[in-house]
Amino acid sequence: MSDLKRGLSEAVGAAFASLGLPAELGRVTVSDRPDLADFQCNGALAAAKQARRNPREVATEVARALEADPRLASVEVAGPGFINLKVSEAALSQRAAEIAEDPRAGASNVADPRRVLVDYGGPNVAKPMHVGHLRASIIGESVKRLYRFRGDEVIGDAHFGDWGLQMGLVIGAVMDERPEIRDRVEALNARGSQPSPEEEAEAFALFSVVSLEDLDRLYPAAAARNKTDADYRGRARRITAELQAKKPGYHLLWRHFAKVTQVALARDFHALGVDFDLWKGESDVDELIEPMVAELDAKGLLVEDQGARIVRVSRQGDKRELPPLLVVSSEGSAMYGTTDLATILDRRRSFDPHLMLYVVDQRQADHFEIVFRAAYLAGYAAEGSLEHIGFGTMNGTDGKPFKTREGGVLKLHDLIEMTRAKARERLHEAGLGEELSPELFEDTAHKVAVAALKFADLQNFRGTSYVFDLDRFSSFEGKTGPYLLYQAVRVKSLLAKAAEQSAEPGPVAVAEPAERELALLLDAFDAALAEAYDKKAPHFIAEHAYRLAQAFSKFYAACPILTAEPAVRGSRLTLAVTMLRQLELALSLLGFEAPEKM
Ligand code: ARG
Repeated sequence: MSDLKRGLSEAVGAAFASLGLPAELGRVTVSDRPDLADFQCNGALAAAKQARRNPREVATEVARALEADPRLASVEVAGPGFINLKVSEAALSQRAAEIAEDPRAGASNVADPRRVLVDYGGPNVAKPMHVGHLRASIIGESVKRLYRFRGDEVIGDAHFGDWGLQMGLVIGAVMDERPEIRDRVEALNARGSQPSPEEEAEAFALFSVVSLEDLDRLYPAAAARNKTDADYRGRARRITAELQAKKPGYHLLWRHFAKVTQVALARDFHALGVDFDLWKGESDVDELIEPMVAELDAKGLLVEDQGARIVRVSRQGDKRELPPLLVVSSEGSAMYGTTDLATILDRRRSFDPHLMLYVVDQRQADHFEIVFRAAYLAGYAAEGSLEHIGFGTMNGTDGKPFKTREGGVLKLHDLIEMTRAKARERLHEAGLGEELSPELFEDTAHKVAVAALKFADLQNFRGTSYVFDLDRFSSFEGKTGPYLLYQAVRVKSLLAKAAEQSAEPGPVAVAEPAERELALLLDAFDAALAEAYDKKAPHFIAEHAYRLAQAFSKFYAACPILTAEPAVRGSRLTLAVTMLRQLELALSLLGFEAPEKM
C-alpha cells in the first residue's frame, strides 16, 4: 500500500525515463494551487536545462506519456513547464477505502526497524525544572511515540541529573539548616564502612523531614551563594567529590533526595502523558567512570591540563575552537560530560542502540558536540549514531525564557495546575459545567490542558522559540490543541447520532470538492509522519492534524451526512470514521487525547 504521492511519483518518473530523461525528476509534490490540481511535478524544468531543450515541450511530452494512466483525471502543463495532475474520483475513492480499512489509517512502517534510545526530559535532583525540561519532555515524548509507532524498538530514558555540583550544594545547605542531620551524616562519614540495613533505615527516618519543598527552597539560595562565596563553593565541590567517592553519610542523604525528587517528578510527568521507560541517572554510570578514564588514558586521548584531565576534540577545519571534554576536575570529580560519555558505554552494553537521540535545549549544542566527538574518538559509538535534537526556548512576553510572575523558575506541577484552571474556565464558558458530571468535567479539563500545552509547543518547528500565552493556547478556536479536540468530539457525536439512527458506514465514493480535499489529506498522513520521523520534528504531525481537522470542518459544513441518501451517507460516514481514527492517531503521537464531550 503506498500513498498517492509516492505512486504518482513513480508513474511520472517512468514517463521521464521513457523519454530518456532521469526518473528522479518525476517526483511529485502536493499542488500549491489546489484549485487547479492535486499534485504537481516541476521536474521538466530541470530536465530541459540538462537536455538543453524547451521546458514546456518536455513537460508536454511527459504529460502525453501519462495520459493513459487510469489514476489521473487530467494532466496539464502550466506556466513555464509545470505538470499539474488531478487524480480521478475512482483512484481517490479507492485510496480512501484502503485507508478506511487500515487500523493504522494509512501509516506505514519503516523498512529497517532500528533500536533507538531517546534521552529526554533530563530533570535534576534538587534543582527545580525549568521550561527547557518541559520542552524536552513534550518533544521527546512525541519523538519516542513516533519512532515506536513506525516500528523501531525504542527506549526513553529520563537521564536524571543526580550527580553534579548541585548535589554538593544542597547536601551542604541541608546540613547547615539541620544540626541533627549534620551530626548523623558526619558520624556516618567518619566510619568509612557501609552502614547496616538497620542503620540505613534509622538514617532515612531522620532524613525524611526534608521534603521536596525544602530542596526547592534551599537550592536557589545555595546556588546564588556558590557564585559569590569561594569558601562555600569549595565546600560544595569537596562534598560532591566525596559523594561520588561514596562517603556513606553523603550517599545516604543523597539517596533520600533522589527518591523524593523522582517520586514527585514521575507523578507530574505522568499527568502530562510523559512516561519514561528508564529513570537512569548520571549516578548510575559511576562504576563505569574509573575504567573508562583508564581506557581513555590507554588510548592516548587523555591530557593533563592545570590539574584536570581532558580530551581534546577540536578538528582541523572547525570554524571555531571547541573546548575540550573535561573528564576529571582538579578536585577529582566526574563532570557532566564525563557521565554522558560513560552513559554511552552503558547504553551500548545494555541495549546497543543504532541511534541515540538527545532531546535537549539548543543551548547545550556545544556540550553534545564535544561529548559525541569524544565518543567517536574513543570508539564508543559509530560515527553519526549520536544526535542532538535541539530546541528553542519557551519565552515570556518579555522575550526571555519563561519565568513565573514572581520571577522564579516554573515548576511543572504549577504549570499543569495553572493550565488546568484555565481549561476549566473555558469549559464553563462553553456551558459544560452543567452538562458533565464533576469527575468527567475534571477529566475533560485535564485533557484540554494537556492538549493546549503540548500543541502550543509542537506546532512550531522545535528550533523555533515561542511565547507562552495561555489565553491563546487554550482557546477552542484557531490553531490550538483544544480546537483539535473539539473537532474530534464533533465527529464522535456525529457517529453516535448515526449509530442511534442505525446509519452504517458504506463504500467510499469521493465526488464533492470538500470530500476530495478530505480524502487527499487522509492520503497525506503517511508522508507527514515520514517527514516528522526523518527530521525528528513532530510539528509535521501537528500541521497535518490541524489541516485534517480543518478539512473535516469544511466537509461537515458542505456535505450533509445523516440526511443524505443511503449510499452517499454511507460513504460520508466512512470518511468521518476514518478521519477520526487518523486524527486520534496523530494526537496520540503528539502525546494527548480527545475527551468524549466538550
Ligand atoms: N539534566 C540536564 C539539564 O538539566 C539535561 C540532561 C540532558 N541529557 C543528557 N544526556 N545530558 O540541563
